Amino acid sequence: MRKTLIAGNWKMNKTAEEASSLIDEMLGELSSIDSVDSIICPPFTSLDTAHKLLKGINVGLGAQNMHFEESGAFTGEISPLMVKELCSHVIIGHSERRQYFCETDDIINKKVKAAFAYGIKPIVCVGENLEQNEAGETKAFIEKQIRLAFDGISDLGDAIVAYEPIWAIGTGKAASAEDAGFTAKHIRSVINDLYGAEAASNLRILYGGSVKPSNIKEFILQEDIDGALVGGASLQADSFINIVKACA
Ligand code: PGA
Repeated sequence: MRKTLIAGNWKMNKTAEEASSLIDEMLGELSSIDSVDSIICPPFTSLDTAHKLLKGINVGLGAQNMHFEESGAFTGEISPLMVKELCSHVIIGHSERRQYFCETDDIINKKVKAAFAYGIKPIVCVGENLEQNEAGETKAFIEKQIRLAFDGISDLGDAIVAYEPIWAIGTGKAASAEDAGFTAKHIRSVINDLYGAEAASNLRILYGGSVKPSNIKEFILQEDIDGALVGGASLQADSFINIVKACA
């Protein structure tokens, strides 16, 4: 049985002070729910604050990105060693990173390798754009992204895959649960090809894209969807808590 996982991707929102209040608001409820794993991914500037507030509490902390090198002349970047000090998880290959920051499959592969090397659990994001979706290219495209992200990695470890159709992110227009479930099943079969049946059946696959308290249930009722990566609805205590509660 795969335990449901809800991860909140705060993106570029909340100052450290705001982050601290939001975490305070959510902590009581989130920490009382054991049947669902919850993780929050605030901006880098709030990770230290969040780390202190979450100490000893069963809510995970993730970074939204990281560089693949341990240290050096990479102005503006954060290394796996730094992420490791504070976080259990890291989001890698989010479509906004691919789109606005020119992250290629090769860079994403290096970051996934770095996450494994430093014992940080990667949440690897894949997802097609609207044209690819309308042209019926979703399966082939997602398969290519998965194969390239995990290229040269012999053990899948604790990796998590998030299927996030680009056209559903931040638009209020989520994918249908059936379509998302179908793509999640395909992701599991690609992982089965690459890593075998046990790794495939242990892998947690999240859906992301306009998830809210009112639609989360449809997604997690899909056999191959094990949770969600939540953007907008993770920025308010009540909506994030209600998403986690709906899964509990
Ligand atoms: P959204 O974002 O929930 O605001 O659509 C999801 C994501 O980008 O991870």
